[in-house]
Amino acid sequence: MPKISNDLIIEIRNKVDIVDVISEYLPLTQKGKNYFALCPFHDDHSPSMSISPEKQIYTCFVCGASGNVFTFLMEYEHLNFIEAVKLMANKVGVSLPISDYIKFKKNDQYENLYKIYDLSNKFYQNYLNTANGKDAKEYLYQRNFTDEIINEFQIGLAPFNNKVSNLLQKNKFSITEITESGICNFNNDELKDIFVNRIMFPLWNLSGQVIGFSGRIYSELDTAKYINSKESKLFKKGELLYNYHRAKDEARRQKKVIIVEGFMDVLALYKHGVKNVVATMGTAITHEQALLIKKLASQIILCFDGDEAGAKATINCGNELSNINVIPQVIRLSDNFDPDDYIEKKGINAFLKQIEEPVSFINYKIEYLKKEKNFNDPNAISLYIDEVIKELSNINDTVVRELLLQKISAETNVSIETLTNILNKEINKKPKINNKKPEVKKSVKRLNKYEQAEQRMLYYMLHYKEVIKIYKNHNCYFPNQIARYLASEIVQYYDKYKNIEIADYLSYLGDKEELVNLTTKIMALQLPEEYLEDEINDYIKVLDEFTINLELNNLEEQFKKETDIELKTEIATKIIEIKKGVDISD
Ligand code: CTP
Ligand code: MN
Repeated sequence: MPKISNDLIIEIRNKVDIVDVISEYLPLTQKGKNYFALCPFHDDHSPSMSISPEKQIYTCFVCGASGNVFTFLMEYEHLNFIEAVKLMANKVGVSLPISDYIKFKKNDQYENLYKIYDLSNKFYQNYLNTANGKDAKEYLYQRNFTDEIINEFQIGLAPFNNKVSNLLQKNKFSITEITESGICNFNNDELKDIFVNRIMFPLWNLSGQVIGFSGRIYSELDTAKYINSKESKLFKKGELLYNYHRAKDEARRQKKVIIVEGFMDVLALYKHGVKNVVATMGTAITHEQALLIKKLASQIILCFDGDEAGAKATINCGNELSNINVIPQVIRLSDNFDPDDYIEKKGINAFLKQIEEPVSFINYKIEYLKKEKNFNDPNAISLYIDEVIKELSNINDTVVRELLLQKISAETNVSIETLTNILNKEINKKPKINNKKPEVKKSVKRLNKYEQAEQRMLYYMLHYKEVIKIYKNHNCYFPNQIARYLASEIVQYYDKYKNIEIADYLSYLGDKEELVNLTTKIMALQLPEEYLEDEINDYIKVLDEFTINLELNNLEEQFKKETDIELKTEIATKIIEIKKGVDISD
């Protein structure tokens, strides 16, 4: 992998302002010299992420996420380090000495799995273009797919006769790797293709690498319409959204994203130039997917199938989004149509008109609760009011609440006073919401005094070159191996640049994940900005004590094992000397 020099990375980082970059993704408010945002990396209810223009770093005081502009992009956009650097280089017009997108992270433990998906994907695509693909192509054309869309979405065809199993074996992938991919089965000593004569739709992870397939029938009708490659270490259906990597820029630009159920619906919209669309792929939406949607845009439109299942899915998805403070809008399609059918039958303009007029989730939910209730039956009205009032009790906006109460009163003929009483009772039932700032997440394990000294020492080393000098002079030894490694990197950085700048130090660490993680964890410690020299000396004393104990333990072990009396005495003397506090280094 061509390496970008650290100096160039520093140059790029210095040309961008972290506040500008983050403000493209999140609304920021300024308080004092820092900016604040709702943290996108946890379910944040009050702005807990602070961004320091001075230090060029961000820190979330609740979940501990922190880093520089590159770390932010890596986390938010699911990029690797080089990709994040490249993105910023483009932004500030610096050209990088690397030619192309680096597809596989070097030493990625899943490199072979990615390669298997990639190779199979190319095979399926080519196969669709052979004479054997004629009928499948015809089917796609009938559904109004253009060659352009087929290419862009890398649609292919699965062959007969285990061709993919053979191809993968020829390319020297192991049976274990091949079966792990979920494209082939190993039965009775034989590798067999799982996908046979199906139109193949690759599925991508959030950064656009193929990590699975969905295969659709196009001729035989007596078998499952779709089959998916099984979940693997790379493919977890509940953690991705179809088309996420392609849709995200457009969604952010328009500040609007459309959520559909099926990937065919994504394609149907895409054919007509609507690109800010992703699909849940037919399963109940998960918390992870809701978080992904939240990242895409502020206006979220749920456009699920027009049938009863789609209506239920709309409620579930809306609830899941409401749980993380996102209030979606809803459109419902007539005649049980899914978006694809709707566009085919009624035209894209009719669909676009719907998108312009979505209803709020709460209104949709109220309509849903009302459906099929017989308003001539007082019991049905009472049930309806119970259900609706429960929903209203979750709304904080008093004006919205009031307007909805009026609406419900008008349709049920129950007075506003009665409805308000029921609502107040419902609200009082809820546990009081604690308005205090959420408690800062403490690490699960309590730190012992050595670990604490180590972390604090590192914290001040990351902030003050003076502390790095003290560390160097004392030759400190940290209990934790990664901390030792981190300290030695800090020293190397300092030796090179004669200074310490956290934001640049983080890019200096680049892809060294363990070190970046420890650095950001330490950055999130809430310690006083200024340090006292005495305090640093105390940490060093504690660390020295650790080293001495370590040595004593070693010697005691040796003492136990040693059989030679003379050597045993020698070890015992050393132990006594150390205990007396005498330096016995030689
Ligand atoms: N799905 C699946 N397995 C099935 C059926 C559906 O994984 N047996 C998933 C697919 O990801 C599909 C989504 O659920 O995209 C929606 O299913 P459905 O509405 O049945 O498919 P359509 O998108 O309407 O596909 P088509 O128009 O080709 O029938
Ligand atoms: Mn369909």
